Amino acid sequence: MKNFTYQAGTKIIFGKNQVNNLIDEVLCFSDRILITYGKGSVIKSGLLDKVKTALNEKGAFYKELSGILPNPRLSSVKEGIKICRENDLGFILALGGGSVIDASKAMAAGVLYEGDPWDFYLRKAAPDKALPLGCALTLAATGSEMNGSTVVSNDETQEKLATGNDCLRPKVSMLDPTYTFTVNKWQSAAGTVDIMSHIFEQYFTPDPGTDIQDGIAESILKTCIKYGPVVLQDPENYEARANLMWASSLALNGLTGTGKMMGDWATHMIEHEVSAIYDLTHGAGLAILFPYWMQFVLNDKTAFKFARLGKNVFGIEGSDDLEIAKATIDAIRSFFNSLDMPSSLSQVDISDEHFKVMGEKACKFGPIGYFKRLNHEMVTQILKMAK
Ligand code: NZQ
Ligand code: ZN
Repeated sequence: MKNFTYQAGTKIIFGKNQVNNLIDEVLCFSDRILITYGKGSVIKSGLLDKVKTALNEKGAFYKELSGILPNPRLSSVKEGIKICRENDLGFILALGGGSVIDASKAMAAGVLYEGDPWDFYLRKAAPDKALPLGCALTLAATGSEMNGSTVVSNDETQEKLATGNDCLRPKVSMLDPTYTFTVNKWQSAAGTVDIMSHIFEQYFTPDPGTDIQDGIAESILKTCIKYGPVVLQDPENYEARANLMWASSLALNGLTGTGKMMGDWATHMIEHEVSAIYDLTHGAGLAILFPYWMQFVLNDKTAFKFARLGKNVFGIEGSDDLEIAKATIDAIRSFFNSLDMPSSLSQVDISDEHFKVMGEKACKFGPIGYFKRLNHEMVTQILKMAK
């Protein structure tokens, strides 16, 4: 296990009827707030009203920014920055899923930066100063509620890029599983795949001696396999929604990646190229790509880790790591299929037209992946396999 420093500085408020507690925490930072949300799920669920009522009761000043889209756009980020500056706002409260939270992180850093916020994503500037932000999570998936990462799409250049900094971790996140009851089957399934993929990205590394991290990772995977199908059949099952919600945060708050050199993250970078052009739901793209990435990188050196996962999570037996690894890939693919997620790009109407350029863009900052380094030609090959 390598040396590490770990601090996950987000205060989590978990459970039912917590809006007043969330607002009390927010007001410790500022009483001038930007509330951000998407296309309207938080209006329908009543969450927005509850938040506004609590803010009104405490005499706080707030502005709203609505309409943040899935695969959030830079244009929303710029709008949010403008509202914050014009109204001298001191806190951003995101109500929604990863897209609303990610866009809000970009606003939080952008308010304190003179240049174009896209500079953060192009690695021309570090987002190392930000307004404090918080969230009420409504979709279990990305882990954005407890990490410092943000992914934004630039509509003009058809790029979707990530950046991050500890100062972008939400100061406080409210996780009320009842607000995820209304998430539809497609988004619930995609969220489950995303949580599992975050575990895969940090689990499939060559680092020896990280038993505690890998054991926690396996437990989170088993939780997704147990409860993912339950929420598709029974969307208001509190226990299932609660377990998935906490799994979402734990899968990507840095915990399972501690003591390791680096996560792999190649599959995520390839998926971001797919959703940059085709606006595909992130988890659906991962459901297609992860098994193909595994097939592509499987060899004598990588088989041991796929096999460990197969044995400990799917109960696959045997003594030949390569054979167990192949069975593990099959098991993962059939689990994703059982959630009605797609298993090829053609199934979601994506042709090979842009594969070459997607490979090049995925590697725009150099080769990707650490379990096995991939150059742009290899990425294009994976996309062809997934066709
Ligand atoms: O816009 P509204 O009306 O809120 O509808 C949303 C949206 O249409 C809907 N939704 C959310 N909560 C709901 C609900 N519908 C009914 N009831 C509810 N309670 O779901 C749709 C998708 O929302 P979105 O926020 O896009 O989903 P998700 O949380 O999966 O976020 C995906 C984005 O996060 C990025 C992805 O690339 C993608 O852009 N990621 C962010 C990461 C991070 N910050 O750490 C890591 C991830 O790997 C990922 O890349
Ligand atoms: Zn993801």
